[in-house]
Order: sequence, then C-alpha cells, then structure tokens
Amino acid sequence: MSKLTPVLSAHWDDKDSFTIAGYSRHGGYSSFKKALAMEPDAVIQIVKDSGLRGRGGAGFPTGTKWGFIPQGDNREHYFVVNADESEPGTCKDTPLLMANPHVLIEGIIIGSYAVRANHAFIYIRGEVSHVVRRLLQAIEDAYKAGFLGKNILGTGFNLELTLHIGAGAYICGEETALLDSLEGFRGQPRLRPPFPAIAGLYARPTVVNNVESVASVPAIIEKGAEWFSSMGSEKSKGFTLYSLSGHVKNPGQFEAPLGITLRELIDLAGGIRNGNKLKFWTPGGSSTPILTSEHLDIPLDYESVDAAGSMLGTKALQIFDETTCILRAVLRWTEFYKHESCGKCTPCREGTWWLVQMLGNLENGVGTEEDLAKLLDICENIGGRSFCALADGAIAPIISSLKYFRDDYLAHFKNGGCPIDPVASTLFVSAKVGA
Ligand SMILES: Cc1cc2nc3c(=O)[nH]c(=O)nc-3n(C[C@H](O)[C@H](O)[C@H](O)COP(=O)(O)O)c2cc1C
Ligand code: SF4
Repeated sequence: MSKLTPVLSAHWDDKDSFTIAGYSRHGGYSSFKKALAMEPDAVIQIVKDSGLRGRGGAGFPTGTKWGFIPQGDNREHYFVVNADESEPGTCKDTPLLMANPHVLIEGIIIGSYAVRANHAFIYIRGEVSHVVRRLLQAIEDAYKAGFLGKNILGTGFNLELTLHIGAGAYICGEETALLDSLEGFRGQPRLRPPFPAIAGLYARPTVVNNVESVASVPAIIEKGAEWFSSMGSEKSKGFTLYSLSGHVKNPGQFEAPLGITLRELIDLAGGIRNGNKLKFWTPGGSSTPILTSEHLDIPLDYESVDAAGSMLGTKALQIFDETTCILRAVLRWTEFYKHESCGKCTPCREGTWWLVQMLGNLENGVGTEEDLAKLLDICENIGGRSFCALADGAIAPIISSLKYFRDDYLAHFKNGGCPIDPVASTLFVSAKVGA
C-alpha cells in the first residue's frame, strides 16, 4: 500500500487545478466560510491542536505563532506569506503555487481573520515570473468572487491582499530581511527582539509564514485538528511535501506523513538512477548537514533528523549517488552562500569568501591535511558568531562532509585533483578560483 497522503497535491493533475472552479470542485473555498463563522481565537486553537509546524524550515508551531499576536491593541496587524523559496534543493512552494494558488489564498483569509489582520502580503521571488502571473490572476479572480476585499461575503471582515515581487536575494527569505525588503529597504536581517509578532511590518504585529504552512490550514479547518494530527509521528504531526531531486529515477514532490523514511521515498521515486548506490543526501536543503546511506531508515520528522545530527528543514531531499564528488558539491553550495551573504556581518561576509578559496584549491588538489583543520577553524569562527542563520547554513555542508568523507578530501591532494572526474575538476574550478 502506498504511504503517500496527497492532500495539497491531490488534484495537481487536473487541467484547471489552478482556477477557482477547479479548486471549488474539490471543496475549495468552503473552509474559510466555516472559519469566518467562528471566533478568531477558536480558529487559532484548531491550528494549535492540529500540531501543524511551520514548513519554512524551523518547524515552529503555527498556531502558537498566531497566538503571539497581541489582541485588542487597536493597532493594524499584518499577515505575510514567505514565498521567496531559494534554498538550493528547496522546490515545493513553486509547484504548489503553480498548481493551486487558491489554496494559499484561502489559507491567507483564514490566517488573517484569526490574527485580526486586514492586510496580507505575499512576498515572492521575482525570477519565477510564471508563478507571479498565475498568482496575480488568482488574486484578481478571488477579489471578483468576493473572497477578498471589503465585507467578505457579508461577514463584515475586510482583507486586502498584496503580491510583492522581490528581486531574488536568498537572504530576503529570512523573515526580518523580508520585512525590510517589503518596506522598501535593502533586505538585511533585523536584530531580535523585538520579534515580528510584536514589531514586524511597519513596526506592527506581524505573522510571517511559509507558503506550505498557510496552504495546509484550509484542510485542517475542514477536516479537523484530530484528522491532521492522526498522521505523522509523536511530535511532528500531519502530512507534508517531500521534494526529491538529484540522482533518483523519478524526482518530484511526494506528499506523505511526517516520519516516512528516505528508503521508502527513494522506492517511490523509482530508486537511484542506473542502479547506483546512494552516497550522500540533504534532508532539508543545502543548509542542513548532509547524511549518508547509514541514515536511510531514520524517520523524516523534526526530532529524528535532529537526533541524527541534521535538520528536517524544508524537506528538500537532494540525492547524490556514488559518482558524485563530495568536495565539488560542497564547493558549489559554498559559492552560493558566498554570493548570497548580505554582507552585514564580518564572519559571514569574509568567511564565506575564504571558504570558497580554500575549497577551490582543495578541489584542484592544492593543499595539505592541515588545510582541513584550517577549514574547520574558519567554520567555527563563522557559526554562532554571525547575525543570522544563513552563516550557520553555509558551514553545515563543510563540517558534515568532513565528518563523513574526510578520505575523499585527502584523496584530492594525494591525486593532485578530483579522483572521480579529474578533467572536469581542473577545468571548472581553476577557471573560477583563479578569476
Ligand atoms: C537565509 C534564510 C533564508 C530563508 N528562506 C526562506 C524562504 O525562502 N521561505 C520560507 O518560508 N522561509 C525561509 N526562511 C525561514 C524564515 O525566516 C521563517 O522562519 C519562515 O518563513 C517562517 O515560516 P513558517 O513558520 O511557516 O515555517 C529562511 C531563513 C533564512 C535564515
Ligand atoms: S550572517 Fe551573513 S547573511 Fe546573515 S546578516 Fe550576517 S552577513 Fe548577512
């Protein structure tokens, strides 16, 4: 029996899944009517009871976050959806928005009502122009249907929804940098406290949630907290989108209960390509420490992945087979972090630059065993000493790859280059590092 539990992705194959008609045919836009007939606090309680945890990476309980918004403060509140999705490997929000933008809009209506916000924003990265077009159309259609705007369906609840198109910086996915960018400033993380729930957008109480978190809410309101929490594991409840990419036969989105294992997911994805062996993988995008074939049977939930020394993150399972050079993969990721460092603090801005130089040399076979200690030393001076989690993410692949594949690093300078693909290694890296 398949372990899949398609809810968000249940009707993605319908030709009109992205229209109001297609969404409504399967019960869409009935949950918000139910929610608007309840007290806002009762809506928050259902989300709390369901055990839904944020799908943007940190796994913070969504209902608890909504409960932090002060009530009766006579101030404007804001509900912001984080659709910046740009972590390497993370690719779930984009297909969700393409296939069914209305489930997000319905989730936004429910969430905004619950936290007493009358203005919501979706912050989306500008590069995904096809998704932007689809969302704009969906928002326009929702206004025309009377689901957004003033006095929604005669309930007295008003909600404006603004789509904000970012310029494509990874750091703008960090929630406080996102808020700065939304306000028109350069996107750089803010000092906390105060947290967004107290002083967020325009210094007003603000919820920031990931696309998948918000899109999960309509089904919870419709079918109940117990239905949702009956899936998953003890502390990681419900279903979620696992994104398998890389060296599997059929990469894609697999919606399953939290706690499924990678072994099961790889089977569902048709196995590793060409019958090869698994070498390493990320549980939740490139900022989560890599794991290996030893970890094929750990339950993919927040607690078990933590216990294995990594993080569930965004459930972006990037699969690398035995033909992959670990050093090259780590170098590519580190180049990404160097490029995306916002430059606000020195350890991250300078450190990621040094890491790229050192990894590039090692990949070229230039270095000694001492350089590996230096690499770890630089990592230690970046991690926990920088302003935001981008820096911790930048060092995660390096530290974890040295833990599991130190011999592969050594083989590079013993061989004078990459033992797996010496020609490609020399050509590509020398061109980049020498530049
Ligand atoms: C560098 C960096 C990039 C991030 N990018 C995203 C992103 O693209 N989308 C997202 O939802 N969360 C991202 N996050 C996490 C957000 O800061 C925040 O925790 C999340 O939007 C909260 O939503 P959730 O509670 O629904 O998970 C990022 C965090 C960091 C440090
Ligand atoms: S850790 Fe990096 S990305 Fe984060 S604030 Fe500092 S320089 Fe910017």
